[in-house]
Amino acid sequence: MFDNKEEHHSSHRKILKFLVEVSQLTNCKTIIEAGISTARSAEVLLNTCPDAHYYGYDNWEGDNVDMEAAARTRLEAYNRTTITKIDTLELKEFPEADLIYLDADHSTKYVTNELNLAGKALRKNGIIIVHDLFFPETFKAVQAWLVDKSEWDFMHMKIGMEYGILWRKK
Ligand SMILES: C[S@@+](CC[C@H](N)C(=O)[O-])C[C@H]1O[C@@H](n2cnc3c(N)ncnc32)[C@H](O)[C@@H]1O
Repeated sequence: MFDNKEEHHSSHRKILKFLVEVSQLTNCKTIIEAGISTARSAEVLLNTCPDAHYYGYDNWEGDNVDMEAAARTRLEAYNRTTITKIDTLELKEFPEADLIYLDADHSTKYVTNELNLAGKALRKNGIIIVHDLFFPETFKAVQAWLVDKSEWDFMHMKIGMEYGILWRKK
């Protein structure tokens, strides 16, 4: 009982600290999304961060060809987007960014490569969000990436398909 209460309070403090730190992101200037799909989340990110430039990456392979057209149409109205059709494994770097949202291929080698790029590209006070942490491979990739990174903090949000939030400790 005591352990659970302690765990609950510690988790609550962590969430509170995280929210306060994220509030510093209202000045977000650059967003990256790996895995655009039809750009529904891109639209949310662009609307939430009205001063930010959005860089999106997707290979829209196989059955996803119509998604590319849908994404490009949805983002047409914004003149602050850079869309790149590419397999994220081919990327050598991300531009510097304040918010990096990883939601493309969820298998280990992709998540690991994207985290390596994101770790280098993330600006001070920025955050990385990894979606679909309920996939064991995705969760394990994040855990493995964090092993030698004591300067990073991590929160597992078990809401919906589950999110991993990563940020540099202050
Ligand atoms: C789950 S959907 C993304 C959903 C989107 N982030 C959202 O929140 O609306 C995954 C996307 O990743 C793309 N994708 C999958 N593997 C990829 C890869 N290796 N490189 C680039 N994009 C990839 C797919 O084409 C698909 O559009």
